[in-house]
Amino acid sequence: MGVKISNLNLDYDRAIQIADGIYWIGFYDVESGLHCNPYLIIDGEEAVVIDGGSRPDFPTVMMKLLQTGLQPSSITALIYHHYDPDLCGSIPNFEDIIDREDLKIISDKENNMFIRHYAISSKLYSLEMLKHKFRFSSGRQLLFYNTPYAHSAGSFITLDSQTGVLFTSDLFGSYGKEWELFLEMELECRECNDYTQCRLGHKYCPIPGIIKFHRQIFTSKRALRYALETIAKVPLNLIAPQHGSIIPDVESVALIAEKLVALERVGIDRILERTSIKDVGNITPLTERIKRK
Ligand SMILES: [Fe+2]
Ligand SMILES: [Fe+2]
Repeated sequence: MGVKISNLNLDYDRAIQIADGIYWIGFYDVESGLHCNPYLIIDGEEAVVIDGGSRPDFPTVMMKLLQTGLQPSSITALIYHHYDPDLCGSIPNFEDIIDREDLKIISDKENNMFIRHYAISSKLYSLEMLKHKFRFSSGRQLLFYNTPYAHSAGSFITLDSQTGVLFTSDLFGSYGKEWELFLEMELECRECNDYTQCRLGHKYCPIPGIIKFHRQIFTSKRALRYALETIAKVPLNLIAPQHGSIIPDVESVALIAEKLVALERVGIDRILERTSIKDVGNITPLTERIKRK
């Protein structure tokens, strides 16, 4: 991908290039246990912002964007992988500063129903309208793949066909105050199930934060599994999620996918396990119980 991947000597106060023309424009939020990662793709005279971030984060994200030397008016599209405020909150701020009548806001149509409530002035484009791809004028393409209910009905992921960078939004995200831009894992991590103390001497183990995040945010094991199967079909080199750390190689992606695909108690399953709702059908029919009150 032409860019050296390492946490050594990274200055988190600057925009950081993670692949050809692709920049991390988030920031190291020491206080928060939920770290957000917006990204910028610059291709010649054009640029696209991915999951731009919340409203309070906007000044920092914009400062990082300007550090790349880009004029905001070069941004032709904003891509949002779902409609949560941690991605979409700053849409009106971006629109103001970009100030282009032809600015595109791109998402799945299921998301666009909600994204329009961020009081946007730009035209909303659905993935269908764009035939699941965005083309820069150079010919570089961003390809979109639906991952429904992982975690929103309209969730999807985006592949940059030139570099193999896959933007997955919440998928492969993580909770945790300890953070580095690039996830560092080794082959031995595959066999390890003790996440409390790293035998290899790493500062912290990222797996518990990833597991906790997927259990809480994703809707069900089936939705997570479907999304992972979709990722398995995509020719990726690196995963750039909207939370947590970038997963810099396919071996680490496979290792984490292996942990996630085996994960039980995801979303609603975790709740049902603790309640009597799972007994529905074995007792008095629901309609009778409702009417009885
Ligand atoms: Fe989300
Ligand atoms: Fe998120």
